[in-house]
Amino acid sequence: MYTFPKNFLWGAAASAPQTEGAASVDGKSPSTWDKWFEMEPDLFFDHVGPEHTSNTYYQYKEDVANMKAMGMNSFRTSIAWTRLLPDGKTLNAQAVTFYRAYFQEMIDNGVEPIINLFHFDMPWWLMEKGGWEARESTDHFAFYAKTAFDCFGDIIKKWATFNEPLVHIECGYMGDAHWPKVHDVKRAIQVAYHTLLAHAKAVKEYRNNQYNDGQISIILNLSPVYPKSQEKEDLEAANWADMLYIRSFLDCAVKGEFPHELVSILKDAQLSPTTEANDKHIFKENTVDFIGCNYYQPLRVQAPQSKKRPITSPRDLFRGYDWPEKRINPHRGWEIYPQGIYDIAMRLKESYHNIPWFISENGMGVSEETHYMDPQGIVQDTYRIEFVADHLKALHLAIEEGSPCFGYHMWTFTDCWSWLNAYKNRYGYYRIDLDKDYARTPKASRFWMADVIKQNGFE
Ligand code: BG6
Repeated sequence: MYTFPKNFLWGAAASAPQTEGAASVDGKSPSTWDKWFEMEPDLFFDHVGPEHTSNTYYQYKEDVANMKAMGMNSFRTSIAWTRLLPDGKTLNAQAVTFYRAYFQEMIDNGVEPIINLFHFDMPWWLMEKGGWEARESTDHFAFYAKTAFDCFGDIIKKWATFNEPLVHIECGYMGDAHWPKVHDVKRAIQVAYHTLLAHAKAVKEYRNNQYNDGQISIILNLSPVYPKSQEKEDLEAANWADMLYIRSFLDCAVKGEFPHELVSILKDAQLSPTTEANDKHIFKENTVDFIGCNYYQPLRVQAPQSKKRPITSPRDLFRGYDWPEKRINPHRGWEIYPQGIYDIAMRLKESYHNIPWFISENGMGVSEETHYMDPQGIVQDTYRIEFVADHLKALHLAIEEGSPCFGYHMWTFTDCWSWLNAYKNRYGYYRIDLDKDYARTPKASRFWMADVIKQNGFE
């Protein structure tokens, strides 16, 4: 029997822009996603945009009832900055009413809300001023964070500042999957710096807040980096990938500083971000209480084709490696490697003073999931059950070896809208049927997980 610690948090994760819908009602202003969909709807899978996500704004009571029935004791979602502060300054009373009712509904039903502040949804008014490239964004974010703590800090005791900050940096400034889809490593580094500064300033606001009796975190995608071989060049490549994708965020959040090697290579390459002298103290004094870790698949790397200097892209430092022996989720094309969870836990133990943490996302995306639907309309997602069980076993081993992991959150509770992929890849314990007024139908994994929760473990 794999038994988990007492009071272990069993739950799921989602975000405001991916579930709420109601994207242009009750005072909410547009985010980059709302505007981008208006401009280029063809880019979004099946032309489903952010207005039509899972309708949680109106159906949250049903969702919370389903969470309770399943035995879940926690749920992570986010607040939409554009709903709470539509112009960045003025509090939207309708947003306060909605979020308080939603969070209180969870609490009344034994589901602890864990609330994140930013899940890729940059307000359009701020993007027009330069988004995270503009230093003023860090103060706007700190004000938003303070407002959220003032409004909900009496009932919310676990907070996160950002979800996977790497993603909006990489996909928006070194790729095309997020707005403003520019490709410029220097701008990406400035965006990364301001994002982390905004994070630290939000933590500072939390420490100063009257409701400073809970805990604050950041949610990071900590995909462990594995080199192709033990050759010097591959090891060096892995070190760079790890420094850029993991340590730049984790060191900053937990230790309050950036890796020195990273600072010096950026300087040599004339890629250092613009900073101010006092920033160092803001980082140093505002570290997190715990870490949320999103884990889907590892990052395998090898030496770059040529050692180009100065660097102009991460590809000059490392490139991806396709491990021929990998186990794969054929429905999403991602590697399945449960041991990654164990390796993350050991790393946090050895290098990050064994900071408390939880799995804030793990899960299996499946396109065309209707293929697995039985005649009763239940998706028989045995592949997902196997996936979760394998990851939980790896997590259990880490906990036995002293890792203070306090929860496991599945991505996600009900299928949800996923940016340009919209509803292509399904991840939920519940299926959402867009053609039937967002009807929620449990999948087989929902029943399996309800049993796991009941027993606080599994055979
Ligand atoms: C996670 C993000 O990394 O991946 C989510 O936090 C996202 O916002 C999820 O929806 C799944 O992504 P995709 O591309 O498979 O739909």
